[in-house]
Formats: sequence, C-alpha cells, structure tokens
Amino acid sequence: MIPKETIDKIFSVARIEEIIGEYVQLKRAGSNLKGLSPFQDEKSPSFIVSPSKQIWKDFSSGKGGTVISFLMELEGFTYPEALRHLAKKYGIEVEETHRELTDEEKKQQTERELLYKIHEVANNYFQDQLWDSEEGRLVGQAYFRERELKEDIIRKFQLGYSPEKKNAFTGYALEKGYAKEILEKSGLSIFPENAPQGIDRFRERVIFPIHSFSGRVLGFGARILKSNVKTAKYLNSPETEIYHKSSVLYGLNQGKQAISRKNICLLVEGYMDVISLHQSGIENVVASSGTSLTTEQIRLIKRLTENVTILFDGDKAGIKASFRSIDMLLSEGMNIRVLLFPDGDDPDSFARKHPQEYVENFIAEQARDFIDFKADILLRDAADDPIRKAEAIRDIVKSVAFVDNVLKREIYLKEVAAKFGLSEQSLFNELNVQQQIVQGNQSAEKTRQEQQHVNTKLEVVQDKTSFSAEPLWELEEKLVELMLKYGDYIISRKDADNQPYEITVVEEIAAYLQEDGYEMLSPVNRKILDEIILGLNQSELRTEHFFVTFLDEEIASKLADNIQKNELQNWASRNIYPLKLGDRISQEVEDDICIHKSHYIEFLIFRLRKELDEYRDTDEEKYFSTILQIQKLEKIFRDINAKVNRILTKSHYYYR
Ligand code: CTP
Ligand code: MN
Repeated sequence: MIPKETIDKIFSVARIEEIIGEYVQLKRAGSNLKGLSPFQDEKSPSFIVSPSKQIWKDFSSGKGGTVISFLMELEGFTYPEALRHLAKKYGIEVEETHRELTDEEKKQQTERELLYKIHEVANNYFQDQLWDSEEGRLVGQAYFRERELKEDIIRKFQLGYSPEKKNAFTGYALEKGYAKEILEKSGLSIFPENAPQGIDRFRERVIFPIHSFSGRVLGFGARILKSNVKTAKYLNSPETEIYHKSSVLYGLNQGKQAISRKNICLLVEGYMDVISLHQSGIENVVASSGTSLTTEQIRLIKRLTENVTILFDGDKAGIKASFRSIDMLLSEGMNIRVLLFPDGDDPDSFARKHPQEYVENFIAEQARDFIDFKADILLRDAADDPIRKAEAIRDIVKSVAFVDNVLKREIYLKEVAAKFGLSEQSLFNELNVQQQIVQGNQSAEKTRQEQQHVNTKLEVVQDKTSFSAEPLWELEEKLVELMLKYGDYIISRKDADNQPYEITVVEEIAAYLQEDGYEMLSPVNRKILDEIILGLNQSELRTEHFFVTFLDEEIASKLADNIQKNELQNWASRNIYPLKLGDRISQEVEDDICIHKSHYIEFLIFRLRKELDEYRDTDEEKYFSTILQIQKLEKIFRDINAKVNRILTKSHYYYR
C-alpha cells in the first residue's frame, strides 16, 4: 500500500502539462494547452490540457481526467503503477511497507533483481549472437528470412539466436561474474555432475524473449530450426520467481497501446502469429503461448479493453481451445467474437499471404458472435438428429451460464431463443441447471434429469415480451456518480408524517439501493457500493475523495474516467464554468432514484412473468402467489410511472 500522505504529495507535486508534454506536443491556446490526440489519429488538435485545473480532455475519444488517468490510459499502468511512475519522476520516495524487510525478504528481493538482470544479459547475448556472429547470420537470420520476417520487426521483438555450442551462454555469463546458483534458478543453465562447466537450456534455436506488461524480460521461448528433429518444437523457460506463465501474455508489451486505442484485442495461439500480424501492421494482438487462457491473463487484457476476438486454427485442437477460452472470457465479463482460419491457415500464414487491409477486413467481417460460432460448429455434424441438436443448444446455454451479469445473460439467452426458434422459458430452465453446474452444485445433475423432459419439448413460440437493460445500466451509473461526486451534500426531506429531516446524498441513495435489494449490474459499482455501506456503518462518508486514494485498480480507472466529466464538457466547449448543480442536486437525486426504480420494477415483473410459465402446470400455489406478486408490482409500476412521466417532461431535466 502506498500511504495516503505520499499519494497527496504526488498529486500536489506532479505537473500535468509536464507529464503529458512528454507524449504530446502541446501549444498554448488561451489559458489552456492544445495538441493532437494521442488516442486517435486526427489532423486538427482536439486534445486539451488545463494547467490551472490539472486536468485533460480528449475530444476525439471523449476521454479525460487527471494526470494519473492519462498515464493509465496511455501506458496501460494500473493506478499504483502510475503513482510510482510519477513518484520516481519527481523524486518522491514511496515507502511500500511500513516495516523493515526481514533478512529472508531482503534475500528474495535481491534474488528477483538478479533474475531480472540475468534475463536482460541473456536477451542481449542472444540478439548479439543473431546479428554479430557468423553462426547467427548463417543459421538464425536465414531462418527468420525463410519465415519472411523483416529486420525491423525482428529488432522490435528482440528476437535472438542461441548457438550450437553446449555452454555458449553459460560460459559467457560465468565469465561476466554471474553465479551458478542464479543461472540455475533462471532456468538458463544446468550444471550436471559430469559437466561442471554447465549446459545451456537453449541450444541451436531462435529465441523469442517474453516481456512483462512494462517491458522487462521474464523468460524465453525458443524454436527449433529443423522440422525433422524429434524434440519439442518450442522450448520455454521454466516457472521462476519472475516468470509465471499463467499471468503473462506474449505481445502485450508491444501491443498494449494499439489494444487500448482500437479498444479490441486479438487473441492468437503462438509467437509467430503475434509477430506476423505486427509485420502486417496489425498490432493489437496477444498470444497465450502454449498455455490455455487463464483468468489472470484475461484480467491483463481487461485493463486495456473488454473486447476480444479469438483467432485460432480451424483444426480440432483450435476449436477445443476456442470453446474453453470463450467460457473463461465470458466469466470475466468480456465481449467475444471468434474466427477460425480456414484450410490449415493460422494467423501467421494468413497474414503473410494477404495485405493488411484484406486481413483487417477479413477479421472484421468473418469473426462471429460466440453464439453463432458455437452453433455453427456444434450443428455442423448434428444434421437433423434432434438429440444432437438438443446437446448443441445445451452446450451453448452452458457458455451463457458463465456470464456473471443477470441482464447480459438474459440478452444472450434471447439471442439463442431467436436463433433456434425456441421459447425463452425452456432455455431459462436449462440455464438454471447449467448455472448450478457452473457453480459446482452437486444436486445439479439430478435437477437436470428432472428437467430433461422439459428440454426435449422445446417449442417454437413468438417472442412477445422484451426488456432492454440499457436504461437500467445508465441509471445505475448515474446513481453511483451522484454518490461519488455529491455524496456529502446534505439534502432536506420530509418523512411520511411530513416532518422535515436532513440526509446526505450518499445515505439516501445507498439506503434506496439496499432497501430494494437491488443487485448492481456492474461489478465495479457493486464494489463501490459495498465500500460505501462499510463506511456508513462506521459513520464515515465515502465519496470521490475516499476512492481516489483507494488502491483498487478498477475503481480507480472508473473514477479517472468520471472525474470532472461534466465540468470538463461545459468548460471546454463553451469556455464557461459549469452551472452550479448545488440547488438541483436534491431534485436530481429524487428523480434518478424514481426513474431507476421504475426500470428496476419493470425488470422484476419481466422476470416473474417468465417464472409464471414454469409454475403453470407444476405448482398451482406458486403460480397464484406469483400472479399476486406481479399485480402488486404492476400497481407500483403504474404509480411510479406517473411520476416518471412528470419528471421527464420537466424542462430543467438535464440527462437524456
Ligand atoms: N508451443 C509451445 N511448445 C510446443 C508447441 C507449441 O510452447 N511444443 C506454444 C508456442 O508458444 C507456439 C504456440 O504454442 O507459438 C502455438 O503452437 P503451434 O501452433 O504448434 O506453433 P506455431 O506458433 O504455429 O509455430 P510455428 O509457426 O513456428 O511452427
Ligand atoms: Mn505456425
């Protein structure tokens, strides 16, 4: 944890114009500075920095915020990383821990430093071998030439070559004074009893260094040159204290800016796929390299974008890997498209065969939504076999069950229902079963058997009810924003007996959300609300100030996005100060709660109606109690809507 005083110090010392000035050429424009957007290509500058307010706004991408959010956007830093980066620039010492390190910890720390160092040394060594040795030129360079890689791209990825000689690197490193122990720990050398001079792990291979998010070398992948040799095609560094393959993505360091700029990440299988795509000008790409995709890897991508397109080989292994990746990505809340390459092509070979524009269009046009994709594959050989078809549908619904968010899940399910001409209800039943399976519920299999007959009766119906989740999302955002920005503002209310009382914005909104048992749609908002309630229980008001120095990556990015958003829009477009919201807040909060409630109740009714179908033939008592519940909610819904309509027609109403 970085102490709060240190964070305050960093904020007070850092100059936004200096930091941004390192990335963007800024010119004076009145009291502000102007430049070309670093996030989007543009000809006339629409990127504005205010030294007096210490904020920035990019009108071409709509982004804006503080110096921290700028670094997070552009460098892909986490919140603490951005803070440390600034601290280092301004010579502020950051005490990471409040106590002295133990000897054991000190030893570990120096060992990690040494591991980084030895990898840097090895990385330079392998590159020198490739470019400056005869063997490197004749063997290594020849190989890359055969794979049609150009020099600039080889250098960009710092590719190298390890010579044939058994202890070429080990001998070099020992001579430079590196200890056997560290060479062994790094996995770069082994020292068997019969070979005290040591043996290199990588011999006669081309080398692919694996970088961390911020560009440090953590390990290597190494490819054999000949295809006829009976040994693993790729040899990789073992797990070490600095290299955990499940939390590294190949190409992330080289692609992070493009991923964030394009707001989409291409996911491929191998080193060469990443590199070839870069060579054709497509840089928003990463590979999980030899491991199946992990949650940690997905979270690395999520720092930059929530959109992923999977590009895998069209073979059996590729399909299997893509199915698994789909479920992993869905459970992390990502939006997914999938594209398998035809005719034995992989992204590498495809990118070399076709020009950039063609490849880009091909990916954009051929990538399918995961439901279509799974449906195609699974139905391909199901033909008219109804049992196989039911299996396929179940498999798709299983993927949907990985989606954490209720409304997203419903939207996907609607899509499946529409695609197969099935009733949503039957899919909902299946979804419930699958969710229990996903959640590891033991009794799930039994439930499945009980419901089996329901699934085989999949009937075709016309979809009458529909529900759009979007307004609920927006209103949830709005309520959270109000709590964060104006949480400590005190508003006057009257209770049921018309007695006046005072309450803070944060208390009123939190109370409403709790009372209605509303489950936040976005995980970040859920986290924020939890923290706020925790604060309230300790008589502490947690608003923007609290969260700005709160070390949670997701919350910090969200705030960076929201901070002074409205103010900035007014300020920069009309060069005036924003209207004072003060007097309107009380009204605003009341209105937003009311509109949110209306949409929420609509959603509850929508959900109960679905349940109703299920109870009709099975549970008479439940059926009638549900009807009563619906009627009650409908009454509330009508009352609230009368009010909502008044709100929406009021001229002062400021959100659309
Ligand atoms: N891989 C590995 N070890 C292996 C085989 C594969 O680590 N024995 C990893 C590598 O990261 C490789 C990726 O899995 O890039 C995909 O494997 P594959 O499709 O077999 O290789 P390609 O990337 O197509 O390799 P190349 O084009 O160089 O033959
Ligand atoms: Mn290949």
